[in-house]
Amino acid sequence: MKELKNNVLSAPSLLSADFSRMNEAINLIEEAGGDWVHLDVMDGSFVPVITFGTKLIQDLRPLTDKIFDVHLMINNPGQHIQGFAKAGADYITIHYEAEIHVHRVLQQIKDAGCKVGISIVPSTPVSVLENVLPFVDLVLIMSVNPGYGGQLLIEDTLKKVEKLADIRNETGLDYLISIDGGVNRETASKVMASGVDVFVAGSAFFGAENPKEELEFIKKVR
Ligand code: DX5
Ligand code: ZN
Repeated sequence: MKELKNNVLSAPSLLSADFSRMNEAINLIEEAGGDWVHLDVMDGSFVPVITFGTKLIQDLRPLTDKIFDVHLMINNPGQHIQGFAKAGADYITIHYEAEIHVHRVLQQIKDAGCKVGISIVPSTPVSVLENVLPFVDLVLIMSVNPGYGGQLLIEDTLKKVEKLADIRNETGLDYLISIDGGVNRETASKVMASGVDVFVAGSAFFGAENPKEELEFIKKVR
């Protein structure tokens, strides 16, 4: 087993919050000591569900100084980078599977002043990212098929985290590795052992009786 990190960041996902009370959800993340706010943008095309877009992010922006980790599960993400950057995104992550001209859109994200993220779904191997890794700040590994909160983590995807950590060691690149989907008390030990830098938690966070304890449990589990 790899050496476990002490400084893993949490990114509670608003997908599992009550959409009629988003300001309270932000307060809860503040109170619970969440590190980032994970915002799942879905278009009903790349994934079956539609969630929200720039307007919500813009309206939430003044409520917190926390990093806005915007996860775009949308086709043609290049058309929307400016909008999400202006709305207040800090990280913008696009899906490798949703864009043919990946380098171009990653550059657009950088030019817009945001940190650059790339994500892959569970069936996409890490090898396809070889040419883009030098251009990203974050690699988000989907550990469920994107679209819904509360799904079971696909354990095989954790091997991708290890692979990305190895590549980072070998190459000296400095991207963060994030895991998204099915992170909870039951899976925490395996997730942490994989060497992630950031974990997203939707249902585990908003479904918890004590969200602060939940984050602390996941972070400290061995
Ligand atoms: C799923 C989203 C996730 C989701 C995770 O498509 O990308 O961010 O909120 O939810 P949980 O933590 O409940 O699996
Ligand atoms: Zn997400």
